[in-house]
Amino acid sequence: MLIALLPGDGIGPEVVAQARRVLDAVCGDALSYETAAVGGAAYHATGHPLPPETLALAERADAVLFGAVGDPTCDALERALRPEQAILGLRKALGLFANLRPARLFPELADESALRPEIARAIDMVIVRELNGDVYFGEKGMRRTATGRREGYDVMSYDEDQVARIAHVGFRTAMGRDRRLCSVDKANVLETSQLWRDVVIEVSADYPDVALEHMYVDNAAMQLVRAPGRFDVIVTGNLFGDILSDQASMCAGSIGMLPSASLNESGKGLYEPIHGSAPDIAGQGKANPLATILSAAMMLRHSLGRPDDADRIETAVAKALAGGARSPDLGGAMTTEAMGDAVLAAL
Ligand code: NAI
Ligand code: MG
Repeated sequence: MLIALLPGDGIGPEVVAQARRVLDAVCGDALSYETAAVGGAAYHATGHPLPPETLALAERADAVLFGAVGDPTCDALERALRPEQAILGLRKALGLFANLRPARLFPELADESALRPEIARAIDMVIVRELNGDVYFGEKGMRRTATGRREGYDVMSYDEDQVARIAHVGFRTAMGRDRRLCSVDKANVLETSQLWRDVVIEVSADYPDVALEHMYVDNAAMQLVRAPGRFDVIVTGNLFGDILSDQASMCAGSIGMLPSASLNESGKGLYEPIHGSAPDIAGQGKANPLATILSAAMMLRHSLGRPDDADRIETAVAKALAGGARSPDLGGAMTTEAMGDAVLAAL
């Protein structure tokens, strides 16, 4: 199986290098790799942040492991040439409609959470967010009311096929975990959400082993802080998922710990840490590579059919943390490479 490695800018190459070492140790020759430039690095080399060769590699590969893009020397460029456009271009070209963000607090890091340690320790969930629909993609504009006042509007809409395909991702994710799915909507006031709820219930017939519950988004926001341990998998729309996934990630500690996956209908995916290129620490060996290493584990589980290897990596990360591995963002002094060494030793 072929992995497209797209290290990108800033700390991207540093953290992807450590993930590659871990993948080599776990999978050996079962995986092959090709690397391509993306983001500011690609712009400087070719004049475009997502060159055709890079896109072709991503399309040909079985999965994409992405570092981060973002380069301060590109700030003055027109929008289409900015490094960040590469990720939008990849999402669109690969049809990535489902964003999975696990939020899990490694017990050793309970003090890093925004929550009280005893509450934070219970966090172990995945938020499944729809990426291609909702209010971000509906008709939008600015107009005048009858009395001449300015009025902005953004239409929220989902069709039933969009809801069904993300619901299936939610149920399948729950099947691979604790088999509890919480669908988050605002069905008491939104027509979109009423359809969402109806379709999720229809899809649930295919997954009799999954316990389904529905929750209003305002209550979900409260429960994420009050009792986050009650969630296993959350499935929700683009807008609610945007907000709830950021909220959940801060409950789980450092930005350097959090992986993500974006999947398409064929199960192919792009895997990346949720952080950016961190220009402030790039080139100094200070970046925490664990988010990228955990993203590689998600890649093995969701796109490559190697759940046991994924488990091995996640267990090794937990063991490394238990053994005291701490990069500066976790209050320690270990280099990026030393963090990689600690995971390899734990394997
Ligand atoms: P950022 O995530 O790059 O950095 C925020 C803060 O967290 C910085 O202080 C950074 O040093 C720290 N940090 C991030 N990752 C870390 C890690 N692995 N280990 C230790 N510390 C870490 O976000 P920021 O500064 O807002 O954006 C920098 C650039 O990255 C921008 O150009 C932005 O557009 C881009 N970006 C790219 C993303 C992507 O490639 N998907 C996502 C978010 C931002
Ligand atoms: Mg966000």
